Amino acid sequence: MSKSLGSLLLIVLLFAACDYKPRNQGRVLYERNCQSCHMESGQGLGRLLPPVANADYVVENRAELACIIRHGISGPIEVNGVAYEGEMEGNLQLTDVEINNLVHYILVDLNDQKEHYVIGEVREQLVKCSQGGK
Ligand code: HEC
Repeated sequence: MSKSLGSLLLIVLLFAACDYKPRNQGRVLYERNCQSCHMESGQGLGRLLPPVANADYVVENRAELACIIRHGISGPIEVNGVAYEGEMEGNLQLTDVEINNLVHYILVDLNDQKEHYVIGEVREQLVKCSQGGK
């Protein structure tokens, strides 16, 4: 194999490996599953759809995020001082790991949180909400 082909391969491999970072998978999952409502950079849509970026609700309800994503949310809530009363369906197709990566992306990238979200925390939350409690 020629030297340049070798280094090209290495670069391609490095890029592929980077994509496995939780945050990057989280971004892709966000684009596929959430962006249509919460918009490209998470800003939401006026009084119709709440923001998930720079959103007090997200930061204050960190312990509920995994369950909100899996089982949806409805009824009156307030995000950044704006009242919403809509309905969001759950995402039963997402695995625990995918939800973890999604929450990580939302907290760290969209809400500037320093503390990382770990899979143990997500699993604990998901067990609770699958038992009926929120
Ligand atoms: C079909 C539109 C729709 C899609 C798709 C959607 N949501 Fe929502 N989401 C809503 C609505 C509407 C609410 C407000 C529900 C209410 O008023 O109780 C909401 C509320 C939320 C909240 C709590 C309030 C806030 O803004 O902080 C979070 C967190 C959230 N969604 C995250 C997500 C994530 C993550 C995804 C992708 C897995 C997603 N949503 C996909 C419509 C949607």
